[in-house]
Amino acid sequence: MADGRTELTGALGGYLDALAAPSAEVRRVMEDNRDDPGAVMMTHPELGRLLAVLVAASGGRRVLEVGTYLGISATWIAQALAGDGRLDTLEADAGRADRAERWFARAGLADRVRVLRGPAADTLPGLPDGAYDLCYIDADKPGYLGYLDHAVRLVRPGGFVVADNILYGGEVVAARPGPEAAALLEFTRTAIDHPRLRTVALGIGDGITLSVVRDAPGGG
Ligand SMILES: C[S@@+](CC[C@H](N)C(=O)[O-])C[C@H]1O[C@@H](n2cnc3c(N)ncnc32)[C@H](O)[C@@H]1O
Repeated sequence: MADGRTELTGALGGYLDALAAPSAEVRRVMEDNRDDPGAVMMTHPELGRLLAVLVAASGGRRVLEVGTYLGISATWIAQALAGDGRLDTLEADAGRADRAERWFARAGLADRVRVLRGPAADTLPGLPDGAYDLCYIDADKPGYLGYLDHAVRLVRPGGFVVADNILYGGEVVAARPGPEAAALLEFTRTAIDHPRLRTVALGIGDGITLSVVRDAPGGG
């Protein structure tokens, strides 16, 4: 319908969830960590499947993720990479990086995934321009704007930038959004208006932006 949104709750939500069914490995890493205090941060399967589609669409040679946690979205991405494809995933928390690396080894993905430890703001400046087909941003919300600047530099023209949680549980439309929601509002406006990006905001999971990187001015 052009003038309305279909409510994705109840049976209809269940229908879509079934269509987003994760692989056995993604299901296992989600189930194994169901009781982790950060489990709410796991990427929604609908978004995981979209990431897998975009990785395949972009050629899937080099992918960058900001925010590994325990490797749920990284597993979706790694399983969609081309045969020689690689994922670099950035994680500030050493304990989570350890657990994610153990998981990648157990899932047979260790040769495709490199966990880069430390704050993303320290790691991103050292990564090569235009080297990535896709960047997925899913870490600290006040960092998103800076990560977007780097993503525009790091992702080749025609590649994708995806950012999660732009609705922040609905707080972005609260009368007084907190600092995280305020950061996401600024991030989303910037992504929509960015001269190097063509961006759509979508109501998947907790809300995402999906951008394609355009050629630099004068670059054709
Ligand atoms: C929402 S979780 C990522 C979830 C993950 N993408 C998944 O679906 O499995 C965010 C992660 O970003 C990490 N993080 C927070 N601030 C960071 C920073 N400045 N640099 C790198 N990682 C950071 C957190 O430790 C956390 O593990």
